[in-house]
Amino acid sequence: MAAECNNKARKRKAQRRLRPLLDFRAVYILALESSCDETACAVIEAEHDYGHPQHRLLVRADVVASQAAIHARFGGVVPEVAARHHIQNLIPVIDEALTQAELSLDDISALAVTRGPGLIGALLVAVQAAKALAFARRLPLVGVNHLEAHLLAAFLSPSPATEPHVRPPLPHLGLLVSGGHSSLVLVHDFGHYEVLGTTCDDAAGEAFDKVGKLLGLGYPAGPLIDRLSTSGDPLAVPMPRAMLGPKRGLQMSFSGLKTAVAAHLKTHGLPSGEKALADLCASFQAAVVEQLCRKTALALDKHKLPAVVLSGGVACNRALRAAVEKLCQSRGLPFFVAPPRLCSDNAAMVGAAGYYRLWRGERADLSLNAVASLPL
Ligand code: KG4
Ligand code: ZN
Repeated sequence: MAAECNNKARKRKAQRRLRPLLDFRAVYILALESSCDETACAVIEAEHDYGHPQHRLLVRADVVASQAAIHARFGGVVPEVAARHHIQNLIPVIDEALTQAELSLDDISALAVTRGPGLIGALLVAVQAAKALAFARRLPLVGVNHLEAHLLAAFLSPSPATEPHVRPPLPHLGLLVSGGHSSLVLVHDFGHYEVLGTTCDDAAGEAFDKVGKLLGLGYPAGPLIDRLSTSGDPLAVPMPRAMLGPKRGLQMSFSGLKTAVAAHLKTHGLPSGEKALADLCASFQAAVVEQLCRKTALALDKHKLPAVVLSGGVACNRALRAAVEKLCQSRGLPFFVAPPRLCSDNAAMVGAAGYYRLWRGERADLSLNAVASLPL
C-alpha cells in the first residue's frame, strides 16, 4: 500500500515536471538545421520515463543534404550559394524525414530550429520554414543554439537497437570542436553552460580545412586528413605545441599550425609521395589532438568534473576520440561521444536541444529571428 502511494506520488511529481509537454498529443519533435552548408531535418521521439530522471530521445529520422561537393570547388562555404541551396533542399529533406519516421505532419507535436550561430542567409531559411510550419499547423516552436545542439548530441539514442542508452551525467565537461568553434564548456545542466576556454584564433576544424587547402586535399579536409594520418608517422615533421604556458590557462590556438605547415611546404615543397603526405598529415593532426587533450586535462584538474563529452564535427576524428577516451580512462572517468553521424552537422541534435527547452516550458513566437553570432 505504502509502495503504491509512493509510486503515485512519484508519478504526480513527474507529471508536474512534464506539464509543458502535456500540451502535446504525442511527443514527436521535427527539427530543422541550415546554419552552414548542411540542410537537415530530423524527427525525434521523446519520452520521459516516469519515476526516472532520464529522458529517452530516440532518433526516428535523420536526413542531411550536404552541399559539401558544391562548395568544394570554391575551397570553402560560399554563404549566398549555401542559402540558395537550402531553399531548394529544405522541403524534400522534410518530406524524406517524415517518410523515414513513418509519420505525417499531423503526428508532429512540436518544432525546433537552429537560430544561430551560423551564416545569416543560411540560418534564415530553416527559421522561416519552421515559423511557417508552426503557424500553419499551430505547433509549439522553439529556437535552438547550434553549439548547444552539438553539446547535447550524446544524449540521443541513435536507433532503437541502442536502447537502453547510457546518457552523460550532469554536470560534465564538454569539449566542443567544430569548423567554427573550439571550446571547453562546463555543462551544469540543460540550458546552463559556462565556457571555460576557447580558441583565440582558428577553430580546430578550420585548421584541418586550411591545412587541407594548402595540401590540395579539397573541402572539407578533416575526414581525409584523418584517413591519411592512419598510415603516417606523427613525429615525422616537427610541429609547434601552442598555448601550453601556465598563463595560457584554457585558451587554445590553432592558426600557428597552419602557418607551420605553410612554412614546411615553402621549404620542402608539396609532399612527393603518399608516405610524405601521410607523415605531414599525421604530424599536424597529432599537434591538434595533443593541444585539445592537454587543455581537457587542465580543465578536469581545475573543475573536478565527473565525465567528459566530446562533440562537434572534429569529434569524428578517430585519433581525437581515442586520445580523449584514453585520458578519461587514465582518470577513471566515463567518456561520451555520439556516433560520427550525430557529431557533424545534423538536425537530430537540434531536436535534442529543442526537446529540453520545450520541457522547461520555453516557446518561441513568430518574432523568432536568426542571429549570426549567437553566444552559447
Ligand atoms: O560540426 P561541423 O559539421 O560543422 C560546424 O558546425 O562547423 O564541423 C565541420 C568540421 C569541418 O572543419 C571538418 O573538416 C571537420 O569538422 N571534420 C573533421 C573530421 N570530420 C569532420 N576534422 C577532423 N577529422 C575528421 N574525421
Ligand atoms: Zn556544427
